[in-house]
Amino acid sequence: MKISPATGALGAHVEGLDLASLGETGFAALKSALDEHLVLYVADQNLDRHQLSALGRRFGPPFLHPIVNNGFEDCPQVLELLREPDDTVMFGGQSWHADVTWMNPAGYVSILHGIELPPVGGDTAFASTIAAFEMLSGGLKDFLRSQSAWHCYHWYERREDPDYAVLQPVVRRHPASDREGLYINRMFTNRFDGMTVEDSAALLDYLFKHMEMHEYTCRFRWQKGAVILWDNRFTLHYPINDFTGARRRMIRTTCLES
Ligand code: SIN
Repeated sequence: MKISPATGALGAHVEGLDLASLGETGFAALKSALDEHLVLYVADQNLDRHQLSALGRRFGPPFLHPIVNNGFEDCPQVLELLREPDDTVMFGGQSWHADVTWMNPAGYVSILHGIELPPVGGDTAFASTIAAFEMLSGGLKDFLRSQSAWHCYHWYERREDPDYAVLQPVVRRHPASDREGLYINRMFTNRFDGMTVEDSAALLDYLFKHMEMHEYTCRFRWQKGAVILWDNRFTLHYPINDFTGARRRMIRTTCLES
């Protein structure tokens, strides 16, 4: 297996792995590379939805979306993310986010497989929440370590429906690297605990802008057959809706922390 880092902040290209037939040693190497680089791009794979789901299950229990119903009937833990040529919106394309931070157990690894891709455009960008946290000043880091924040699914109306809202620590420590990262995101984090949405807004917005700086990001250009795996605990992602007149079809599974 050959690993080539994508940027100084995060991400790596992985060669020499067949994700459909990974033995235990191969899976351990993949997991260890993910712990180190947080996002992995693996070219030239050919997984059907059942194989994608089986790979996800090796990281943790599958996430079944309680609201969005674009899962396959025979494999509901795999979602089809489809943008038709005339569509104007793209699934997840509204803002930087991490998957499933609004429930516990929360989202751990997401695995996305490119099936049909536009000739150009539709890249996915990622940001390291660890690199972003490490560049904050000591006083702000200490303050944030003492904070929790509410994450809610109904982000578009900032509604804390008790079934889909949870309190999360603002800073998390990576169990393998021991590095700390910010665990907030523009899509699902509503407010700091003990503060109103209005009181929280200025600091959250400052942190979101900081986390989204180019210095902490990488961007992958999709090729048919590519698979990208990312760790939702320590990254944000943003699918780039910059193409028209072409179809983009992906399949995605997300597993939960266990
Ligand atoms: C998502 O999981 O937000 C979608 C990512 C993508 O389609 O690139």
